[in-house]
Amino acid sequence: MPVVPLKEIVDRAFSERYGVAAINIVNDLTLEAVLATAVEQRSPVIIQTSVKTVRSIGVELLFAMWRELTAGIEVPVSLHLDHCPDRAVITSCLRKGWNSVLFDASRLPVEENQRQTIEVVAEAGSYGANVEGEIESITGVEDDVGSDEEAERQSLPVAIEFIRATGIDVFAPAIGNAHGVYHGEPKLDAQRVSDIVAAQPIPIALHGGTGMTDAQFTDLIGRGCAKVNISTALKVTYMQANLAFLRGAEERNSWDPPSLFSSVRDAVKDMAADHMRRFGSVGRAW
Ligand code: 13P
Repeated sequence: MPVVPLKEIVDRAFSERYGVAAINIVNDLTLEAVLATAVEQRSPVIIQTSVKTVRSIGVELLFAMWRELTAGIEVPVSLHLDHCPDRAVITSCLRKGWNSVLFDASRLPVEENQRQTIEVVAEAGSYGANVEGEIESITGVEDDVGSDEEAERQSLPVAIEFIRATGIDVFAPAIGNAHGVYHGEPKLDAQRVSDIVAAQPIPIALHGGTGMTDAQFTDLIGRGCAKVNISTALKVTYMQANLAFLRGAEERNSWDPPSLFSSVRDAVKDMAADHMRRFGSVGRAW
């Protein structure tokens, strides 16, 4: 299977209760490394781009990279726009060919969020694309979007009505998860995932994946978290692998960029494979 709609990937993972890593890439090297890992591991994968990455590389070039690197790919992959409050960016990504978007109107009152999400679902639908929705912002700043203050959680009936009325394909609830680095083991409201799924069976997006324990992943994926977002782990791996290699290069006084790239690529691949194993998606490609 090559590039497929996000819904195909998450619906299957949801019904078979495994998680698919949704990894935020930052450039061509990380995009290629994550895709190569998915092929090696026979795992579906979701490639995510933050608005910051879309703006820094540009919609055209970013999509050209995606198209070239997924040409002939034999595992199911999907391109997703992460937290985007900006309707213009949503429109330009959908027009270009992104498979799904997270319309992040969590700063708006729920009624207005719901009204606009209905519009985004219709817009995405006209391109055969899918939509992830959220009504509470996930704590922490992710590529300049968000806030460190924990948002108030909406009641279960409000969440259920939002999912039902909007027709979104994936729902991202706040359950005590946060973007960035956790200080200690996060305290997560796993029951909230079960309550939502029991009332409205929909694949759940687990944000703030970096730093959760294996037990937490297994438990939450079993409850319906079919899409597991990983961004900070890639950033840390990427930066630290560069730093380690460059320190060695300085010591050796040897300056060969391709060796740097291959060393960083290996580190990113190890990180991605590790998450695919922990989420149970290895060997699940169809
Ligand atoms: P982390 O930065 O904690 O990995 O979370 C990623 C995420 O949820 C992206 O939306």
